[in-house]
Amino acid sequence: MTQHEKILILDFGSQYTQLIARRVRESSVYSEIHPHSYGIDAIKLMNPTGIILSGGPMSIYDEGAPKADEAIFDLGVPILGICYGLCYITSTFKGKIESADDREYGKATFNINKDSNLLAGVDEKSTVWMSHGDLIQEVPDGFEIDGSSENSPICAISNVEKKVYGVQFHPEVTHTVEGSKIIKNFLFNICECKGDWTPASFIEEKIKEIKNLIGDKNVICALSGGVDSSVAAILIHRAIGDQLHCIHVDHGLMRKNESALIMKMFEESYSLKLTHIDASKSFLSKLAGVSDPEKKRKIIGNTFIEVFDNESVKIPNADFLVQGTLYPDVIESVSVKGASVTIKTHHNVGGLPEKMNLKLIEPFRELFKDEVRAIGRELGLPEEFIERHPFPGPGLAVRILSDITEDKIKVLQEADDIYINELHSNGIYNEIWQAFAVLLPVQTVGVMGDFRTYENVIALRAVTSTDGMTADWYRFDLDILEKISNKIIRSVRGVNRVVYDISSKPPSTIEWE
Ligand code: XMP
Repeated sequence: MTQHEKILILDFGSQYTQLIARRVRESSVYSEIHPHSYGIDAIKLMNPTGIILSGGPMSIYDEGAPKADEAIFDLGVPILGICYGLCYITSTFKGKIESADDREYGKATFNINKDSNLLAGVDEKSTVWMSHGDLIQEVPDGFEIDGSSENSPICAISNVEKKVYGVQFHPEVTHTVEGSKIIKNFLFNICECKGDWTPASFIEEKIKEIKNLIGDKNVICALSGGVDSSVAAILIHRAIGDQLHCIHVDHGLMRKNESALIMKMFEESYSLKLTHIDASKSFLSKLAGVSDPEKKRKIIGNTFIEVFDNESVKIPNADFLVQGTLYPDVIESVSVKGASVTIKTHHNVGGLPEKMNLKLIEPFRELFKDEVRAIGRELGLPEEFIERHPFPGPGLAVRILSDITEDKIKVLQEADDIYINELHSNGIYNEIWQAFAVLLPVQTVGVMGDFRTYENVIALRAVTSTDGMTADWYRFDLDILEKISNKIIRSVRGVNRVVYDISSKPPSTIEWE
């Protein structure tokens, strides 16, 4: 298999570590984040083209300050230290560091003192983003000072012979105006990368890998219709064809006509082996009378496993289960308080692999959402499908506040359908990260014709976000909002009021439950 160029990012706990990975990948160079403690043997096995040491919240002098294996400096591989990474390089090579009383935070002007490969083509004076406490007081032997700022006289250093570089500021954040140029200089001038990591090369590599892994066994995929699991299914289908068996469990809590659309698309356009299980009766009977959001999630999760398990035992010789897990879900992040490394995992069908004794295939474990979308495009999935908003596993169950009934589902499906269609017809769907309607558990008084009504309230939610971790409410054109409200109240029986949610996350969440 072709050995692609790889940049290893060692994480010292900075909130910007994922951004470093993004910037590297945007330059068509593959990158992986690992904890600072990642062992030298694993690093040698990975054979990185270059290493970036991230920033971090601690001072190099703090007790338990994170360290990397110093043997990385003997690999002969180019290394770039950012902020804490710079201090780590300085302390390892016996320079002097001073712990500043105040953290320098925000914009600063960076001045280049000396030409260097890292700073080639960068303006002599440029705005950079700082967030640090420690300051370099004396450069280690063999290192040169390449740049300074008012508060950080030693702001960029290099040892060209050892191929070790460091900057005090954060080139990965967009406030650092020349940041991507600096990262590109590291990748292309110093690491001599070619930048040949593309969706097409990823697909080609994965297909070979999957074929080798699966052999003549069968693979099961829980196809929810979400972007991640759908793109995963199409990719695996390319690799092994009919050895892939997809199961779509309809829990009755999908958007209007969603299940039927998913079935149609996959059967007609992709000839996937796909079984549709209408388990809505079973889900809804178990959910009857349940109002607590976490109980709803638990019931849905358990029922899903039950239904899926019953169906999948019918598939012979099945050894593997596909999941569309993404990189941010599995990333190992550094716990800054203790020595322990916490791993965040989120599996849409959690519990299944253990119960069914299946091995997991997660082809997108190393990818971000927009990269999966790019893979989907390359695989020929239609644009309107690729751009669909995320939809939670428990579906409308967490958008019907209080208990769930078939009537409530219908009301919500109709209102939501009108809302989403209006976003499309006004050309704003793709400006929004996620939009949906919520059915509130209150009735309000209205007047229609000569009659008093006492009916339901629909709340509309639309947020902008890059990863769902933080979100802001979408600023609608008021005429569009008015049109949506009128349409819902006029056409959906049982709704006489529409409100718009203007809360950001945090302190609110995206979903209401
Ligand atoms: P919150 O509401 O926590 O949501 O701001 C963040 C993102 O996660 C989705 N979400 C879920 N997805 N199962 C899922 O698969 C769940 O139980 C769940 N709860 C929230 C939500 O739609 C948003 O994209």
